[in-house]
Amino acid sequence: MNPEERLREIREQIADKTRIIVEEFCQRLILAKEVAALKTQLNLPIEDYQIEKKLTQQIRNICVKNNIDPKLGLKLLNILISASISIQKAATNKPLITPTTIFEETRRLEEQGAKIIHLEVGEPDFGPPQRVIDATIKALKEGRTHYTSKYGIPELRRALANRLSERWHTSIAPYETIVTPGGRAALTLALSTILNQGDSAIIFEPAWPAYKNCVESLGCRARVVNTTMENDWQPEVSQIEDLIDETTKVILVNSPCNPTGKVLSRKVLKSIINIAAKHNITIVSDEAYTEFSYRNRYSLLQEDCRKIVLGTFSKAWGMTGFRLGYIIAPKEICDAISEIAGEFYTSVPEPIQVAGLTALECFNEVDKYVALMKRRLETVLTLLKPLPITFKEPDGAFYIFFKLKDPISGEEFVEQLLKKHHVALTPGSSFGRYQSFVRFSFCRPEEELREGVARMREFLL
Ligand SMILES: Cc1ncc(COP(=O)(O)O)c(C=O)c1O
Repeated sequence: MNPEERLREIREQIADKTRIIVEEFCQRLILAKEVAALKTQLNLPIEDYQIEKKLTQQIRNICVKNNIDPKLGLKLLNILISASISIQKAATNKPLITPTTIFEETRRLEEQGAKIIHLEVGEPDFGPPQRVIDATIKALKEGRTHYTSKYGIPELRRALANRLSERWHTSIAPYETIVTPGGRAALTLALSTILNQGDSAIIFEPAWPAYKNCVESLGCRARVVNTTMENDWQPEVSQIEDLIDETTKVILVNSPCNPTGKVLSRKVLKSIINIAAKHNITIVSDEAYTEFSYRNRYSLLQEDCRKIVLGTFSKAWGMTGFRLGYIIAPKEICDAISEIAGEFYTSVPEPIQVAGLTALECFNEVDKYVALMKRRLETVLTLLKPLPITFKEPDGAFYIFFKLKDPISGEEFVEQLLKKHHVALTPGSSFGRYQSFVRFSFCRPEEELREGVARMREFLL
């Protein structure tokens, strides 16, 4: 057979195989729909890693037999499973009460004149230090209103490197920093740089929902280690290792955690670092709440491991509306991130970066804010303890994640409390499979916290 004929033949065979794959893929999705209906009926979770594990091993064997890198087969498996998950998610009951519905409902009630106590948002009420506001206005008046480097202005990168090196007794170079429009963007940029379609990332739940959403929006699998209040919200290290395969690129750590306030123990953190090193995995450490650590405060910046650290000015300096954050990572990662950043938003607004520079100069204000939050935490703990709820005292952040003793679900509780008593909270279902939990944010002045708990008490007792 001459080469042209052989090429034609192979092309026909490839087209044939592709048609078979797509036909089988469609059949697989039809089956997934039926599985969704059965799982809803049986009240089973969408994902079952034990069943997946068996399939993973079989796919690995098929690849080895055909002399193909197992990673390729496992990535394809992740894509197939992701497609089934989206079908199952669309078919199963979604939470009815979400942060968006609470937002809409509070606005509706406020428009009717109701005085709502906002204990649902993770936004400090104190706002930025006055010096930061003054510096922003000055920057605008001085004409600092231009495009800047996609990495951020050099003086802010230098200040970040110096300030964080000093704070965590380490050595960070300015080229290992990149300024971002907020912590959420830092997360998206970091994950977009490391994850490719079909990869997987390990996350611990309950968690800030952005983690799962971001991983899945990149066409990747978010494999969840569920932590429990009974186990003091510590992840089981053996479970982490169980979920790792050749496609796993990231372990996401958030300590202190939103919503539990858990600061991971050094022992658990060391184990995570060891597992990550063994499997060549990058730890992405979201340190949005690190300053708000009421017991031991630490950063992954102190550890010698493959890591990307995400930071934000939103929480510690009360600068949510400024949209300013940063990433600390090896130079090649910062370079890769800068490429996406440049394409995506060109650069962070210049006056906002000047504001960040000033914020780093007034760290003493942060200490005052942290002390204020700690006082609020103590007040709230005293107020909540007599209520028919259970919770672990948070080590950090500004939330209490409590479990209702009544048979009422977190969603029903949040909905009714808002309607009847005008107190807004967030249901636990927003953070994973935590239907009987509710998140209480103590980002409001003490009188409001007292009034909010009094209304909860009235509802619960
Ligand atoms: C855990 C966590 N990380 C990061 C952020 C990001 O905040 P921002 O995008 O305002 O910087 C939040 C906000 O709520 C958060 O809860």
